[in-house]
Amino acid sequence: DVVDIRTFSKTGMFTFDPGFLATAACESKITFIDGDLGQLYYRGYPIEQLAEHSDYLESCYLLLNGELPTAQQKSDFDYMVLRHTMLHDQIHNFFRGFRRDAHPMAVMVGVVGALSAFYHDSLDINDPHHREVSAFRLIAKVPTIAAQAYRYSKGLPFSYPKAGLSYAENFLHMMFSTPVAEYKVNPVLAKALDRIFILHADHEQNASTSTVRLAGSSGANPFACIAAGIACLWGPSHGGANEAVLKMLDEIGSVENVPAFMEGVKNKTHKLMGFGHRVYKNMDPRAKIMKQTCDEVLNELGLHNDPKFKLAMELEKIALEDPYFIERKLYPNVDFYSGIVLSAIGIPVAMFTPIFALARTVGWIAHWTEMIADPGMKIGRPRQLYTGAQRRDYVQVDARR
Ligand code: ACO
Repeated sequence: DVVDIRTFSKTGMFTFDPGFLATAACESKITFIDGDLGQLYYRGYPIEQLAEHSDYLESCYLLLNGELPTAQQKSDFDYMVLRHTMLHDQIHNFFRGFRRDAHPMAVMVGVVGALSAFYHDSLDINDPHHREVSAFRLIAKVPTIAAQAYRYSKGLPFSYPKAGLSYAENFLHMMFSTPVAEYKVNPVLAKALDRIFILHADHEQNASTSTVRLAGSSGANPFACIAAGIACLWGPSHGGANEAVLKMLDEIGSVENVPAFMEGVKNKTHKLMGFGHRVYKNMDPRAKIMKQTCDEVLNELGLHNDPKFKLAMELEKIALEDPYFIERKLYPNVDFYSGIVLSAIGIPVAMFTPIFALARTVGWIAHWTEMIADPGMKIGRPRQLYTGAQRRDYVQVDARR
């Protein structure tokens, strides 16, 4: 049942809903999740079909425009993304201002926010053309920024995007090619990475998307809003979970240590990272696809006996049979297996969340655009239940006890 609180608010009533467990903050036509059935749709298309048949940039077009592109629209869109992939040369100075050991998410928050100092035309958010150009700039430049953050941390020279490569291939090329050795892209790995991008492209009003909407509702520019989304995504309860899963698998070490670890989970000493979801009370459909992708990648690389994959499968098996997890409807989420895939591809752990951020950029910008284009948009302004001190009179400092 949906209660439209706008009618109540005129009478002075408001709801108290910490964590937004039961409050919709907007209408949206972009993504639908059926949490009870474990289903996810982008613009009405099941995620399984997109993961199987689409590619990331086509899914981006769909999320932004509401329909799948024709062949001509697809090639124009791909071209527009490619032509915006370069960074202004002065942006490289921002990277140089960071310590080499900075987390790449810290670098991304700063550098993506700094784009607003370079593209003044994008600040005119009321012009649909400028909003579209901002979307291209962000989708195109965020992977370049992520790759440069990695290269800077390694002391490698900045790299440049290359024409003729897919979005995922280009990212791998920017990460790993050097002036003396071109990275040879394995098509199975590039496909797996592209699938990770599709699966992370949007997920309706999660914490980071809601952050982007809230920031954007004040009229803030798109680069500032996406930087806010990246900051929110970084947390281990959200996008940082993929990194946390791999660290957890390392800490557990081997299958024999699983029972003791599970006891700790039940005693609430630690969480089983990569498990649980606010909306899914059934298996996250992205986790199923990710598990299959994991299997494909490990087979391709001859790593089918990979101990981390075995350990992850054991944890999943135990959790799915254990009353603690069954009662709380805790199932693996997308990030339970994505870290294993990314590791197998050769992506360092610190880059897992930046990869999530670059894939989610399209979802953030699609929601930001939908909100700005809505003539009924209002600034986001949550209410509060005040529980602090009652009115009292100021006391001079020498009279205080
Ligand atoms: N491990 C163990 N117990 C858990 C877990 C977990 N991963 N997640 C939830 N629980 C337990 C809670 O302790 C609580 O138990 P209780 O009823 O005995 O108090 C119950 O399940 C309900 O949990 P909540 O925290 O109320 O669920 P909420 O919807 O607020 O949190 C969240 C969802 C943040 C995703 C949580 O499940 C979690 O922290 N998971 C691990 C981190 C993770 O994988 N995040 C990625 C989310 S998906 C994404 O962003 C791509």
